[in-house]
Amino acid sequence: MGLLESFGRSHASRRKIVFDMARVPALEDLGDVAGKRVLVRTDFNVPMEGPDDRRVITDDFRIRAALPTIEWLTSRGAHVVCASHLGRPKGPPAAHPRGLSKATRYSMEPVRARLAELAPGVELLENLRFNPGEESNSPEFAASLIKGIDMYVNDAFGAAHRAHASIVGPPMTLPSAAGRLLQREVEVLGNLREKPKRPFVAVLGGAKVSDKLGVIESLLQIVDALVIGGGMCFTFLAAQGYPVGSSLCELDQLTTCKRLMEGPKPIYLPEDIVGLDASGNFATFGIRLPEGAKGLDIGPGTAGAFTDVIMDARTVFWNGPMGMFEDERFAAGTRTVAEAMAATKAFTVVGGGDSAAALAQFGLDDEVDHVSTGGGAALELLELGDLPGLTALRGAPNVK
Ligand code: 3PG
Repeated sequence: MGLLESFGRSHASRRKIVFDMARVPALEDLGDVAGKRVLVRTDFNVPMEGPDDRRVITDDFRIRAALPTIEWLTSRGAHVVCASHLGRPKGPPAAHPRGLSKATRYSMEPVRARLAELAPGVELLENLRFNPGEESNSPEFAASLIKGIDMYVNDAFGAAHRAHASIVGPPMTLPSAAGRLLQREVEVLGNLREKPKRPFVAVLGGAKVSDKLGVIESLLQIVDALVIGGGMCFTFLAAQGYPVGSSLCELDQLTTCKRLMEGPKPIYLPEDIVGLDASGNFATFGIRLPEGAKGLDIGPGTAGAFTDVIMDARTVFWNGPMGMFEDERFAAGTRTVAEAMAATKAFTVVGGGDSAAALAQFGLDDEVDHVSTGGGAALELLELGDLPGLTALRGAPNVK
């Protein structure tokens, strides 16, 4: 069944999700912020490179994305204290065998320097994940975070799917609000679920089907077609009986993939593959991979076919690269999809993480309608329709 044939299908079976933004307090609901100390939970988990003691931020997108909220508060006389996690250090630096390395690798110092340039006078706490109480959602840690603080704002969309102390603790006692970034992300992603212009196509990539199973199931309820590339396509191809050589393949997901493909919505899969042959040489294959061959990108025919689907759509959500785009030999598929996202007249949303990084690498990040700052959070919002960070804000004392 082609994409066009699927347009007329009923969406009556769609799971009803209500984005209750009406009950999530906005900045205006904080009242007078002049002279108040406001804790702003941000997601400054930015990519960095370089040796541990000289880390350099390679993309400050997430810091810039928090500026509208910070400026809203500071221009009204509030004193802003930002707090964020950075990477995934497990506990305090001293607990690590290479404590010093970890302390510098995950230190907020480079972020603090950038923030000082962009928003002078704003404080930034040290990496929240240096305290194990952050991830274990310890009430003591949450209490220590809000000591001397009058109000709380969550603008960390990328972390709003984590029920961590800094996300769910402060709204239990402090007047709280969603920042502008969180608000916009929820509106855009909520609209994808509630009222997308059709046809609505989701393009998914990334390594594992098992990681994205929940979101695939949910997306199949709301999209008109699903396009699958990246490492996970090989499990779908294997489920159809094609040999996939030594490509990534989750044998325990074959039955699930078969079931998904038997559903009413079209799922587009690659018809040619680029990768390495058994001797390790770059090669282009058809849909059947010879023994020992490893698929690492979609082929040119597939990239063209995926482009056609994207160009025909009126809403496109893209998450996950089509191949190992960090290696130039296997970047063409992801680049073609990124270019189609930039060229289509459809409303285009890119779910953060690797696909946002790819878009930036190709210089196309300004060419789509919305680049989400959240990877996991965007998927979880699409899948479940709510996030722990939003639930927490709805329970804040300033919400009637
Ligand atoms: C992200 O990069 O997706 C967010 O900052 C969340 O990070 P986490 O997956 O380590 O919680």
